[in-house]
Amino acid sequence: MELLLSVSKDRPGTLSAQIQRRIRDAVRDGSLRAGSPVPSTRDLAGQLGVSRKVVVDAYAQLAAEGYLVTRQGAQPRIAAGPFPDAVATPPAVAVAPGRFDFRPARPDVSSFPRAAWARCLRDAIGEINIDDLGYGDAFGVDTMRDGLADHLGRARGVVADRDRIVVTNGYLHGLGLLCRTLAARGARRIACEDPGGTDEARIVTRSGLAAVRVPIDDLGLRVDLLAAAKADAVILTPAHQHPTGVVLAPERRTALIALLRATGMFAIEDDYDAEYRYDRPAVGALQGLDPAHVVYAGTVSKVLAPALRLGWMVLPPSLVEPVRSDHDHGGARIEQLAFAHFLRRGELDRHLRRMRIRYRRRRDAMIAALAESLPSGRVCGIAAGLHVTVELPADVDEAAVAAAARARGIALATMGDYAPGGGRPPTLILGYSQMSESRLRAGVRELAAIIRVTAGGNAA
Ligand SMILES: Cc1ncc(COP(=O)(O)O)c(C=O)c1O
Repeated sequence: MELLLSVSKDRPGTLSAQIQRRIRDAVRDGSLRAGSPVPSTRDLAGQLGVSRKVVVDAYAQLAAEGYLVTRQGAQPRIAAGPFPDAVATPPAVAVAPGRFDFRPARPDVSSFPRAAWARCLRDAIGEINIDDLGYGDAFGVDTMRDGLADHLGRARGVVADRDRIVVTNGYLHGLGLLCRTLAARGARRIACEDPGGTDEARIVTRSGLAAVRVPIDDLGLRVDLLAAAKADAVILTPAHQHPTGVVLAPERRTALIALLRATGMFAIEDDYDAEYRYDRPAVGALQGLDPAHVVYAGTVSKVLAPALRLGWMVLPPSLVEPVRSDHDHGGARIEQLAFAHFLRRGELDRHLRRMRIRYRRRRDAMIAALAESLPSGRVCGIAAGLHVTVELPADVDEAAVAAAARARGIALATMGDYAPGGGRPPTLILGYSQMSESRLRAGVRELAAIIRVTAGGNAA
């Protein structure tokens, strides 16, 4: 029996994965129909010129996924269907930016819970009602907003209910929406953290507002300098400042809330990675202290995958109607319903529990490797998040280190990427979420060697 397919070592993926993909595709496009026989493992191995084990492995995987029926001594056949979606199989080739990927603020997307998400998505499609298939409420589907209100109250101390939650296509999308709304209400200036994300400052200025930088020190935002900035709102990352890794100190939180109340200024709390605290439970959200003046913003980009483009804002009551009046038709509703299932079934909690352990191990491996290979580097910030901040000796040229590292296929960020104005000690921002412990150790060793060469031996 012939089966028209070919495989090659020159193509992406293992030979077994190529066979699986071809058969899956043929089943899905109908060229291999339910019940039709396929060659035995021996026959197919002979036709393709590969070892029998390659075909045995491919058939076993296809049988496990429900595409194939294999029984000892019987001709293998395509199953009767219905056929599962192809979500359980990761892409054959993961695209990496280089040999070592130390880019910060990215989760390990290879751990994305594909099967659980696929179940939630399938159920969402099966259940979505007529209203939600239409435009529906532009702020998002009710069940996701209800689920989020419960989740954020429980996990982050956020005061929320459905009516104040707007679902966005990620944090930056929400920030743009909010800046437009504030500008339309007469706002002129928005304070941003220094160092801090340059995307935020860009969005602020594109909305016609001035971005005013307020410095960060070891206790977080210099709230004492904020009043002088005469800002209408301040964007901050209080649970884990990005990128320095410090927490906003309790006395600064109190002073900030007092300032918001006295001036009517809004705070925009970017709670991007608070789920990952490894030494103790995370501090509660600032929003819980003053829901009338704090906009709480969250995203799945650090906990699940940026590709989902799902985020949210919990708005102070006074901003609900202004944001609504400037909103478009909102985001993808089937995904929102899937996320509601994901929350309700405890999948997010389960995923976070698993990832916290994994990231903590990676962080520990990174810190041990730094202590061994780069003892002159000072690791700053709390044990949290997806990156470490490593201060280098003052005479090291941070930009030269970054350029030499990138030339050797090492992707990373530096303080200069977050503090264009300069004035900070040379510092590397190193993400540890995307590599195994052994890869992290190897990468840190190589990076340390580059730093030594760049610094002429001063940074041993
Ligand atoms: C500090 C910070 N906040 C939030 C985000 C998430 O953005 P989004 O939800 O638009 O993916 C990022 C992404 O890199 C980030 O670095």
